[in-house]
Amino acid sequence: MAAISYSFIPMAVSSASDVATTEMLVQAGNPDLAASMKAGKAIYEGKGTCSVCHQLNGAGLPPTFPPLAGADYLLADKQRAVKQTMYGSKEPIKVNGVTYPGGIMTTIDLTNEEVRDVVNYILNSWGN
Ligand code: HEC
Repeated sequence: MAAISYSFIPMAVSSASDVATTEMLVQAGNPDLAASMKAGKAIYEGKGTCSVCHQLNGAGLPPTFPPLAGADYLLADKQRAVKQTMYGSKEPIKVNGVTYPGGIMTTIDLTNEEVRDVVNYILNSWGN
């Protein structure tokens, strides 16, 4: 399957709740996906970030932390994944048949480029 990547269109975003933020993201052929994924891996595995909850192998710790590897929720809507990576999630969600109550995922302070890289990483790792 062809690798999917995202790039940002520069756009002013007024607030963290601005739904339009997800529209900054367009699916685009990223000429340097490997470099983006490498940077994303470093963020994902970095101290106190994603892997603390979602685990190094992306399997998560159901029913507390949802998986990213082979996750139907993640793969169903990539824009939503980007938004969730930027802002966390407060709503209950269902991933691979397991319901997660929401509110646990913290918002990690990432730049647009870091979000792009980490999302490139999770969308193209562990068989995703
Ligand atoms: C403190 C633990 C924690 C950390 C750290 C964390 N998450 Fe999450 N994440 C969660 C929980 C809990 C949910 C489920 C949210 C819900 O129930 O609404 C979730 C949901 C998700 C989802 C959507 C659900 C899925 O399985 O596809 C994505 C994508 C995601 N996280 C990506 C990330 C990324 C990328 C990072 C690092 C930048 C990260 N998370 C850091 C706990 C965490």
